[in-house]
Amino acid sequence: MHSSEIRKRFLNFFEKRGHAVIPSASLIPENDPSVLFTTAGMQPLVPYLLGETHPKGKRLVNVQKCVRTKDIEEVGDNTHLTFFEMLGNWSLGDYFKKEALEWSFELLTSTEEGFGMDPDRLYVSVFKGDDNAPQDKEAADIWKNIGVKEARIFFRPASENWWSPGDNGPCGPDSEMFYDVTPEGLGELTPEEFERADEKGDVIEIWNDVFMQYEKKDGKIIGALKNKSVDTGAGFERIAAVLQKKSSVFETDLFDPLIKKVEEFDSQIDRRSKNIISDHVRSAVFMMTDGAEPSNTDRGYIVRRLIRRSFRLASSTMGEESSSELMKELSEEVTRTYRDVYPEVKAKAVETKKKMEKETDKFREVLKDGLKKFEKISKKDIGGEEAFLLFSTYGFPIDMTVDLAVEKGIKVDTEGFQKAYKEHQEKSRQGTGGKFKGGLAGGSEMEVKYHTSTHLLNAALRQVLGEHVEQRGSNITAERARFDFSHDKKLTEEEKRKVENLINKKIKEDLPVICKEMTLEEARKDGAQGVFGDRYSDRVKLYIIGDEKYGIFSKELCGGPHVDRTGNIGRFKIKKEESVADGVRRIKAVLE
Ligand code: ALA
Repeated sequence: MHSSEIRKRFLNFFEKRGHAVIPSASLIPENDPSVLFTTAGMQPLVPYLLGETHPKGKRLVNVQKCVRTKDIEEVGDNTHLTFFEMLGNWSLGDYFKKEALEWSFELLTSTEEGFGMDPDRLYVSVFKGDDNAPQDKEAADIWKNIGVKEARIFFRPASENWWSPGDNGPCGPDSEMFYDVTPEGLGELTPEEFERADEKGDVIEIWNDVFMQYEKKDGKIIGALKNKSVDTGAGFERIAAVLQKKSSVFETDLFDPLIKKVEEFDSQIDRRSKNIISDHVRSAVFMMTDGAEPSNTDRGYIVRRLIRRSFRLASSTMGEESSSELMKELSEEVTRTYRDVYPEVKAKAVETKKKMEKETDKFREVLKDGLKKFEKISKKDIGGEEAFLLFSTYGFPIDMTVDLAVEKGIKVDTEGFQKAYKEHQEKSRQGTGGKFKGGLAGGSEMEVKYHTSTHLLNAALRQVLGEHVEQRGSNITAERARFDFSHDKKLTEEEKRKVENLINKKIKEDLPVICKEMTLEEARKDGAQGVFGDRYSDRVKLYIIGDEKYGIFSKELCGGPHVDRTGNIGRFKIKKEESVADGVRRIKAVLE
């Protein structure tokens, strides 16, 4: 089954069961500073899982672009990726466990409408219970009623069968589905045998149904959610591997052109390197498409890490010249593979390739000196500070230093590196102290005020600097707002003052902030700012700041929440203005 058919079947199946198809959100989270990238389909939906009404209704389905770098060390094996697509369906206070599990099973096994997987190769797990919540007997009983044999249902602890997007937000027990990928088939398993099969990769997790029932704050469950919801996530590439009868995600049609391209450049290159290069370039292309720029901090560092690590892996076998060319051609392959799935990939193709080229060129400039330095310090194990120096001065991503060290048979103090890196980041955050932990979903009053202030800032920047200004990211804490935007020059003192004065004027005018729901097309016609999806029919929320007397000042697509009137925001002050990447400036501002 071709990957495009898999996406189609998934969406159709749930659309037929009353779900509205929503487009993938950007990889760069809007208004959720708790994560650098969208890591799950539910992330952009957190406000709705917490009770806000979604404009498209209570049943949703989509294919979401996701990035997870937690398992970066595992990338190169059969199942781990840094970028992946997640198939997900949601009930926002509508159906619950029974329908969710029945539909999961039906979609996986039905040959007409679904994926036609062999039910005798499926295993499921349910939550075992602990001090926080009881055993999920209900889910186990539903599985039995569906016809899954008891010997294929396993009870597992919270480490495996409890899901939350982090320390804050909606959470609950989950039920996972696994598929037996061994040639002969494993048959029925004891719980111990199942654990071993999971560790060995003989069974692979393909889908997770989360029963959202509770809310967490700072790592503790603070109560039950108003509405019980369902959040599911199926790993698209893994499902493709199963359906295409491949033992590795890198052998699916999604990776085939990338792997072939690497082989074209070097037929001898080892499998792991081939996989890593393909994975990393694919991720970097998607990240840059959504506006991430290679840099030395936060999100930008992840893009840089992926590009530089893959470049180094390639150049160590095929030389720098070929490696540069390969990176460029791989970006083109990624574009070709995904241009009909994600129109933004096509729209940004030229820009992305240029960014790739620029970053590789930059790296080549420092690589020689860096390798010399590495040679000098690699007579013994490399300390955290040394690894950080290689990073900060020579642009060596930590994984690359580790790869080089492995080749030499020495160790790197990666924890020491993380410590040094964090210290550096804290410093560059001008002492405001750690990151904001919650999402806006946590919803403190100050955060909401800061959120509305970023809409004012966005509009003010466009008035003062010009229409080329577009939001590139935002990060809000209860103490400050951080706002990234496209502009290629440092702001003058006068420009900064103008922006501040304009915002404070709008605050003084005590303008109402009104939310209107409409279709994307209507919003676009209305001249709204914001990240636009691709489906004209999608219903969106447009936040409008202004009134008849003073005129409309800002119109932005956004999920909220916002203050009702600008009057109670406080006084807006720019604390810092700096460059974060080529063509992207960052403003840090406080409300006094
Ligand atoms: N949000 C759940 C996951 O990512 C479905 O596994």
